[in-house]
Amino acid sequence: MTTVGIDAMEIWTGKLKLDLPNTFAPEKGEDPEKYTKGLGLNASSFPDSYEDIVTMGANAAKKLMDRKGLEPDDIGRIDVATESSFDNSKPISTYIAGCLEQVYEGDFHHANKGERKFACIAGTQSIDDAYNWIRAGRNRGRAALVIATDTALYARGDAGEATQGAGAVAMLIDEDPDLVELSMEQGYGSADETDFLKPNQQFPSVDGKRSVKVYLARMREALEDFESVAGKIHPDDFAYGPFHTPFPGMVRKAALLAYRHIIRDTEVEEELAEEIGRQPRQEAFDDDEAFTEALREYMDALKGTEQYQDWYGRTIEPTLGISRDVGNWYTGSVHIARLSALMHAAEQGEDLAGQRLLVGSYGSGAQAEIHAETVCDNWLEEVEALDVQEQIDARYDLSWAEYEEVHDRHNHEKDKELEEFTAPENEFAFDGWGRMGERKYRYVE
Ligand code: COA
Repeated sequence: MTTVGIDAMEIWTGKLKLDLPNTFAPEKGEDPEKYTKGLGLNASSFPDSYEDIVTMGANAAKKLMDRKGLEPDDIGRIDVATESSFDNSKPISTYIAGCLEQVYEGDFHHANKGERKFACIAGTQSIDDAYNWIRAGRNRGRAALVIATDTALYARGDAGEATQGAGAVAMLIDEDPDLVELSMEQGYGSADETDFLKPNQQFPSVDGKRSVKVYLARMREALEDFESVAGKIHPDDFAYGPFHTPFPGMVRKAALLAYRHIIRDTEVEEELAEEIGRQPRQEAFDDDEAFTEALREYMDALKGTEQYQDWYGRTIEPTLGISRDVGNWYTGSVHIARLSALMHAAEQGEDLAGQRLLVGSYGSGAQAEIHAETVCDNWLEEVEALDVQEQIDARYDLSWAEYEEVHDRHNHEKDKELEEFTAPENEFAFDGWGRMGERKYRYVE
């Protein structure tokens, strides 16, 4: 059976930056360390006045197509995952295909296009759709373009305002991939939850504290479901664990929970027993409160152990690098977590080919999915071809007053004109409104 997976990826960050400790914290009257240490974020990316989910997605896709030498005929499917869509009918993939058709010979008329929605997990679901399409043999030798693109903006004053972000990830899903091979094994944790939603509104209604709890509960369910198909996993089975990263502090909580789960009944739990005791088991407690308290104590102790800290530093911390500087990219977040890990491995000179990643995706509303991937032989070449750090470093650093204007500019309820802060060059840019209220785009040389 041929392998199927992610052949290549490219990112496009919004070209503006909001510095959280130096610009955001003083205005909010908060200690900068709430952001850098508590949430784990240094900065958020924002779209310039001529950027939106279409331009960022199209720009990431064009970079990917150019680098891989692809023509429209090579693509049989374009799926866009987003929770920032501005149209309930016409999918963003049609806008992006329209942009790309301005610059390539040929067209995407025979490519199946769609838009996937399930909060931040939709990017992973689109990869799944592409995988299934290829595995079913319906792709006629063509690859799928999956684009996760979002402007993760919150209402001014919402607790989520500190975790905003904007950017796109384009991924090519193909046979015999260069980057990571997907596996057949998946686990799900899914339930009807009201933690974060956008009932026909641009900025989300968020119960932030509840969303943290739901993320952890669904992830745990997904992990159990994953083990029911893949077998019991061990902390050393995976080189990295990229998880959906709304902010790095969230992953810090999820990692501890995951570690407790995966060391249960292993020699790691036994080794740690001398230092911190064995994990509390529900059946040993008469009431739930006492069990919960014992668990909390165990988790606190586990967090301080050398074994946990080693594992966290090796397997999880390297996945958070990009997120710390760009904030939440919603559907793209788990994919930049994977990329952070691969970039870290490249910097460290690690031989990652053949090693496995445990990927945890999450979407509010709510669903978690966990699957394993195997790193491919050509991963290093792929990762070294990217300009992620250059893009991050090139962003325009907003003052507080400029940030307020940018937020208004991207508020769909306001009609705010704003001079651009950066000059578009060799990229797609928003070009005003059409006669039916559609957005128009042009390629700026
Ligand atoms: N130094 C170090 N850490 C600090 C700090 C300081 N001066 N001040 C606060 N912190 C820590 C807090 O202890 C907390 O960490 P903990 O949860 O591990 O205890 C963290 O920083 C955040 O502080 P908190 O007061 O909880 O922040 P908040 O209430 O303003 O907002 C969210 C947190 C998550 C509710 C908010 O960012 C949000 O709504 N985000 C959007 C929803 C989201 O992303 N959900 C995730 C699941 S998808």
